[in-house]
Amino acid sequence: MPSSNKTAVSSPLTHPSLGFGLGLRVDHYDAILADDPAIDWLEIVSENYMIPGGRPLHYLARFRERYPLVMHGVSMSIGSVDPLDLDYLKQLKKLADFVQPAWISDHLCWTGAGQRKLHDLMPLPYTIEAIEHIVARVRQVQDVIERRLVLENVSSYVSYRQSQMSEWEFLSEIARRADCLLLLDVNNVYVSAHNHGFDARDFIDGLPADRIQQFHLAGHMHQGDLIIDTHDAPVIGPVWDLYAYAMRRFGPVSTMIERDDHIPPLAELVDELDYARGIAAPILSAAA
Ligand SMILES: [Fe+2]
Repeated sequence: MPSSNKTAVSSPLTHPSLGFGLGLRVDHYDAILADDPAIDWLEIVSENYMIPGGRPLHYLARFRERYPLVMHGVSMSIGSVDPLDLDYLKQLKKLADFVQPAWISDHLCWTGAGQRKLHDLMPLPYTIEAIEHIVARVRQVQDVIERRLVLENVSSYVSYRQSQMSEWEFLSEIARRADCLLLLDVNNVYVSAHNHGFDARDFIDGLPADRIQQFHLAGHMHQGDLIIDTHDAPVIGPVWDLYAYAMRRFGPVSTMIERDDHIPPLAELVDELDYARGIAAPILSAAA
């Protein structure tokens, strides 16, 4: 058998870290363009720009000139039993052709059935049947968007008796079988760990390090025994601790803060982003 002294080097699955970004919100359009704040990249909500023209696309073209952009969707409904919405996927691809995003993400959830749309990201039963269903759909999506899809773990308040595995085993198996990537929402892990009584570190330990494309950080609120994922407040101490734990496990991963309600002045979010940089820096330099 012929031998070769060349070592095969496989290229990483994930895009290199973009650094520390923010979710782009209308309230901050002008401040970002005027102030040139310390933001490395921006995540846009895809559906806000899937329109024929007008002010949002005008702004988007300006942001595209200045920042790396990432597209984040909320209505793919990859876990639904309804057929995938091919018109939606074509519009998503068209937007991607305009934006040239570093990657495209959505949530591992379902958002409706039949003609009924829910205004929520509903969790799935963690079953083999669901994995097979979702893997086929992710592959279909990836064929249309011509790149790997990035799937985010959602926060949840209910679980299914039918589940056969943990959420992290479910996510990992889908990522492996569909050859897609993962967006780890650190706050969602904290919220679900509290609501369902598991150890958030087990979740992080159980994910495949080579498929973690992005982190989300956000705030939440307590309501009775539950934590609700509201994105309306600063990130809390235990979520920062979990972020540090995730950084130690996964290394430099693009980090982003999401704020969707009670949106503060831009400077407050830039300060919060600096706080994330301060947590990540010693971990990354110790690992270098
Ligand atoms: Fe998120």
